[in-house]
Amino acid sequence: GTTYLSDYRPYPFTLDHVSLTFRLAPKATRVKAALSLAPREEGAPLHLDGEELKLISLAIDGQALKPADYLLTEAGLTIHPAALPEGAFTLETEVEIAPEDNTALEGLYMSKGMYCTQCEAEGFRKITFYPDRPDVMARFHVRIEGDQSVLLSNGNPVGHGPGWAEWDDPWPKPAYLFALVAGELVATHGTFTTMSGKTVDLNIWVRPGDEDRTAFALGALARAMKWDEEAYGREYDLSLFNLVAVDDFNMGAMENKGLNIFNSKLVLASPETATDLDYERIEGVIGHEYFHNWTGDRITCRDWFQLCLKEGLTVFRDQSFTSDMRLGPVKRIEDVITLRGRQFREDAGPLSHPPRPDHYREINNFYTATVYEKGAEVVGMLKTLVGPEGYRKALDLYFERHDGQACTIEDWIKVFEDSSGRDLSQFKHWYTDAGTPRLKVTDNFKDGTYTLEFTQETRPTPGQPEKPARHIPIAVGLLSPNGDEVVPTTVLEMTGDRQSFTFTGLGAKPVPSILRGFSAPVVLERETSAEEQAFLLANDTDPFNRWEAGRNLARATLTAMTVGAEPDPAYVEALGALIGDESLSPAFRALILRLPGEDEIAQSLFTAGRTVDPDAIHRARHALMATLAERHETALAHLFDASAVPGPYKPDAASAGLRSLRLACLSLLSLRDDAARARALYASAGNMTESLGALGILVTVGKAETELAAFRKRWQGNPLVMDKWFVTQLSLCPPDEAPDLAARLAADPLFDWRNPNRFRSVLGGLSANHAGFHRKDGAGYRFYADWLIRLDPLNPQTAARMSTAFETWARYDKARQEKMRAELARIAAQPGLSRDLGEMTARLLG
Ligand code: ARG
Ligand code: ZN
Repeated sequence: GTTYLSDYRPYPFTLDHVSLTFRLAPKATRVKAALSLAPREEGAPLHLDGEELKLISLAIDGQALKPADYLLTEAGLTIHPAALPEGAFTLETEVEIAPEDNTALEGLYMSKGMYCTQCEAEGFRKITFYPDRPDVMARFHVRIEGDQSVLLSNGNPVGHGPGWAEWDDPWPKPAYLFALVAGELVATHGTFTTMSGKTVDLNIWVRPGDEDRTAFALGALARAMKWDEEAYGREYDLSLFNLVAVDDFNMGAMENKGLNIFNSKLVLASPETATDLDYERIEGVIGHEYFHNWTGDRITCRDWFQLCLKEGLTVFRDQSFTSDMRLGPVKRIEDVITLRGRQFREDAGPLSHPPRPDHYREINNFYTATVYEKGAEVVGMLKTLVGPEGYRKALDLYFERHDGQACTIEDWIKVFEDSSGRDLSQFKHWYTDAGTPRLKVTDNFKDGTYTLEFTQETRPTPGQPEKPARHIPIAVGLLSPNGDEVVPTTVLEMTGDRQSFTFTGLGAKPVPSILRGFSAPVVLERETSAEEQAFLLANDTDPFNRWEAGRNLARATLTAMTVGAEPDPAYVEALGALIGDESLSPAFRALILRLPGEDEIAQSLFTAGRTVDPDAIHRARHALMATLAERHETALAHLFDASAVPGPYKPDAASAGLRSLRLACLSLLSLRDDAARARALYASAGNMTESLGALGILVTVGKAETELAAFRKRWQGNPLVMDKWFVTQLSLCPPDEAPDLAARLAADPLFDWRNPNRFRSVLGGLSANHAGFHRKDGAGYRFYADWLIRLDPLNPQTAARMSTAFETWARYDKARQEKMRAELARIAAQPGLSRDLGEMTARLLG
């Protein structure tokens, strides 16, 4: 069935305290639970969620219940009101579960011999009978019995002996934040002294053999703890913080109170095995999960419709953290590339939904780019509207007012209204309405007065035909024709469908720099000349818009090239001027040198109502690279030599920026030197960033056979590195070969498809190869659908998540559309299809 936001009712019981005892066994773990409950209203039945549980015993205040006292279904346990005592009581249950058979990786499961849990969103109901909803917050006491050397749960250790350990979490929490880990693990240990002088023990737990790749994660954790004290005044609230790496994990990581559990790819790093991008992500996600301690754990969500309350805010926080640790403007550009690549794409198709949806069948299908990334943009807009001090004031009020509560988006907006005195009722549409607004702008100059006129329009999205005007903060600056900034960044607030803003006292018609810093997640549509974009690329003081001007030029020439135009000389020349500009950071120049991806070009063609031909896009992109390489060969070669990073590998932003610039040069130069430099770099590289970068370039030019074999041989024992081997060759190989290569790789004995990372590396690698996935004969679609069908019965969450590769079907020609829809229909028709994938295919088919 479907769950609706409007059906929310508080739970009719209070649950103060929970006591759990686990007796671990792979095929028959026993879980005893004692819940101290009290009715809030009279005569309500007691409903507890529970799935795939074998009920062993059931008692209230020590009295076993009779079969007539309760009803047991596939979804849970309901106890008749008549069987409940009048006031408070203790409900005791015992169930049996089989972690070893849990291939869905939700609830209590096993990964390489170790027990671990993933309870968000609704996995706790696969562990015991419980009111598995985030607004029920209780204190947990946990006893674990097992012969593993390490037995962990949330909170503080309160006792242990041979074969057992007990944990007590003093902070009330919803069940989705429960965690348990048991295994033969080793810890890297550290400490952190909080701002009030308390010492916190930090542990990163991994399987033996992985401990030499934990140092960076430990440092990142300490940096995150410090940053949250400085930027948000938030101090950690337990004397222990445990973080565990697991190899089999559906998502990135999980913020369980005091016991964060991570996909090992977001913890383990060494120069030989992890790339600069891995390092950056590890620091960002460690920050993200740590920041959840306040925005998620101390203040949680009332129901799952409010997911972006914790996720949007926490992504915004982790983005700010990374921005402070590395290069702010570069981070902003990277975040906007991701937002457009994932969220704009989602918003333009059948899966479009608001950051706060109002119905779902399976909540796991809503851990999306819209809830996370757009949710973060909405927080960023609030900050822009109230200013940095107003933002800090609002957040202080949020923590003060709502600590210990399960909240809603309404609570969140009210905090901003009360602390700033502003009316944010129109702003709220950003949370409740789907779709990406399109902002059109025209300008006019007369007698020293410059006018910008904006109109906004949001196209209908599934279930939301009407789109009221949004409240849009538009950061604008004006440049004089000789390149001076005559009006510094000013935030215009658009609230109507059409609105004008004037600037007076100008000596000449200025060049506008609109939507600086990407101040709102909208599509900006403005008829401009290539000369004006080139002017902004050369002169804008806002680094984001400077990059954006280059991107606009690149996109415009690429889309024209798909229908036969020649590369735009304005773009080719402007780029040449920038790459040698020593005043720009290497990381920024690397971003400017990297062309928009094929999917991004497809998306902008689609938005403009034009035909999307994947092969033409691929050819155009390649042709533009060839032109750039030919025109700037000398400068690129010089820059390639000059940007070598001396000394041993360091993952800091400056070194990473140089490596990124060097590889961006290399990818162009390889079209001129028969890949000689790439081959030499691969042979000599002392770190994964350069080996993988060089390998990818060799794959692109079709000359990687020897290196791919050598790489496999060297790294076959390291699953995280082997994931890179799979994804690199699939995503970058010549498109015509991609579906066949996918089939070959799926037959490789190392394709352990039950492991989500490995599954994603092959299916994600194929779908990242735009023209390959969309090969005309439909082989890419068929391969992909076959594997979703195969994975679904074992791991519905990951199968459903990966099905989003089909969300763009409406972009393409009729023949491709039909093939994609036919595969979706074939999936939808599978007997026993999961609720997860069933909901996705139904929405995808529209
Ligand atoms: N709360 C986690 C995070 O963003 C995500 C966990 C989601 N897992 C899931 N199965 N839905 O940090
Ligand atoms: Zn999160």
